[in-house]
Amino acid sequence: MRAVTFEELGGPEVLQVVDLPEPQPGPGEVAIEVSWAGVNFADAKARSVGYRVDAFPFHPGLEVSGTVRALGEGVTGLSVGQHVFAMLNGKGYAETVVARAATTFAVPEALDLRDAAALGTVLATGYGMLHDVGRVREGDTVLIQGAAGGVGTVTGQLARAAGAGRVLGVVSRPEKAAYAKEFGYDEILVGEDFDEQALRATDGRGVDLALDPVGGESWRRSVAALARFGRAICFGNASDADAWSIGMADLAVRGLSVSGFSILGLAATDPARLRVLTETAFREAERAGITIPVTGEFPLERAGEAQTLLESRTSTGKLLLKLR
Ligand SMILES: NC(=O)c1ccc[n+]([C@@H]2O[C@H](COP(=O)([O-])OP(=O)(O)OC[C@H]3O[C@@H](n4cnc5c(N)ncnc54)[C@H](OP(=O)(O)O)[C@@H]3O)[C@@H](O)[C@H]2O)c1
Repeated sequence: MRAVTFEELGGPEVLQVVDLPEPQPGPGEVAIEVSWAGVNFADAKARSVGYRVDAFPFHPGLEVSGTVRALGEGVTGLSVGQHVFAMLNGKGYAETVVARAATTFAVPEALDLRDAAALGTVLATGYGMLHDVGRVREGDTVLIQGAAGGVGTVTGQLARAAGAGRVLGVVSRPEKAAYAKEFGYDEILVGEDFDEQALRATDGRGVDLALDPVGGESWRRSVAALARFGRAICFGNASDADAWSIGMADLAVRGLSVSGFSILGLAATDPARLRVLTETAFREAERAGITIPVTGEFPLERAGEAQTLLESRTSTGKLLLKLR
């Protein structure tokens, strides 16, 4: 079976398609014939700066949808031939993957395999941040970075469905603003001074919940944009900034809370909680009619092109690899 791999860090040219033996499921695992693999910003970071790369050759890919080919020992609740979505710890850019049954989910009837691959991770991430960590309440003002991207387009709609009073998005370029506004946002802020814009947009009050995947200066500004008793969630470090720290003096006067979220961390440490979260998020997506725009489909050989698009900050919506 064919799969994407790389043996050194670098640009998209380090990605190669190689032939590998069909992987077989061990105890608690399932083999999946992949139909679609999601392209995530984290995949590009793995290739460029070694994010979560522990050894070479490294096989990127964190999520797939497809059909169960074989069950390992002890797997219950899944069957051969079933349509599934799986979160992985790598190796997803491939014709066949082996996934832990604990992080493999039946695709809801209302979804096809393409939508399942596009929605799975971003839906659980957005829902987990808004509800489990951010404890969003009716009427809250929510600020979401990367509003035109995979996580951003879905999380804007989820915030709206959760009863947020106002949903503000941030994008880096004006040409992405009109696009992002279609996905649950009341207003799109453009540029790095989004904290000042958010304060102006709320008559100086600030936002109740800010979601930041960029880190560094952006994180500092996300915290600055908070209203009294506001909450900020760090869920990525796209800027590659040094680790941030925040102290009592920064938080106490306005009663702020800061926290983090990692869907990969949750999958690794508490798959049972991930299952509850993912299944709840899929139900909410169906109830609220949440959609995700798939704006690019690429064959395995062009995975580098998809990653380059994500890194260029010009992509919108979700990009997928088409395996079948
Ligand atoms: N913690 C978690 O569980 C979790 C799960 C999924 C994704 N994430 C994170 O969420 C973010 C969105 O992921 P995604 O896969 O849906 O990607 P995406 O939003 O479709 O694309 C990445 C976006 O990040 C923004 N960005 C900000 N700073 C950037 C930089 N220095 N270089 C390149 N892009 C930059 C760009 O939007 P603008 O140009 O408009 O700013 C770009 O469109 C990523 O940072 C990812 O690591 C975290």
